[in-house]
Amino acid sequence: MTARLRPVAERTTAAAPARGPRPWTGDDPAGARWDPLRDEPGPGAARCLALYAKLASGVTVVTASGEDGPLGMTVSAATSVSARPPLLLACLRDGSRTLGAVRAVGVFAVHLLREEQRDLAARFASPTTPAAQRFAGTDTCDVLGVPVFTDSLAWSVCLVEDVRRYGDHHLVVGRVAAVHVGAGRPLLWHDRGFRSLAGPPMTDGAG
Ligand SMILES: Cc1cc2nc3c(=O)[nH]c(=O)nc-3n(C[C@H](O)[C@H](O)[C@H](O)COP(=O)(O)O)c2cc1C
Repeated sequence: MTARLRPVAERTTAAAPARGPRPWTGDDPAGARWDPLRDEPGPGAARCLALYAKLASGVTVVTASGEDGPLGMTVSAATSVSARPPLLLACLRDGSRTLGAVRAVGVFAVHLLREEQRDLAARFASPTTPAAQRFAGTDTCDVLGVPVFTDSLAWSVCLVEDVRRYGDHHLVVGRVAAVHVGAGRPLLWHDRGFRSLAGPPMTDGAG
């Protein structure tokens, strides 16, 4: 009788080492995955923060309606997630007052700031500035119950789709319910400082 040859994929799987990188399946039982940091501490928060500082990003202010009035905070960790359905992501630190309101009400706004709005960004980041003072002198209108800065570069109002804690931040995913895109140049954050775009685009598009 002729011996049956096993398919290549099956043989490859059988020969794989017991420990080593494996594709993420999301449903491995705890401890079953290879953990290269098990016996070796990672690089540590300070070095990771130095790396994060090299990420160039836009600057946004996330707002929500709190029990005692509007709340808002400066957020650079905001990004697009999906076009169909339209989803945005904002990473908000654990204990933030704005995060509390976002969770409680289920609606929030994300404003992309213009380069002239650096003072606004600083004010909404200052831990010693009370919420009412952060909003003082700003032009806002109400969209789906959320305060919206009408003169930002662009804004969207989102319905909370998911909130998930990772480490000391919460990932807030929102479904875009309203959107407005204005004109101007974005305020940027890089190397722990505010920046603006210099010069024209390097190419006409992705290429
Ligand atoms: C440029 C800049 C970007 C920031 N980005 C974030 C961020 O992405 N997520 C976050 O949780 N805090 C971020 N912060 C800090 C918050 O704005 C700050 O902790 C704020 O006081 C929180 O307000 P709250 O506790 O009233 O909600 C940033 C601060 C600055 C200056």
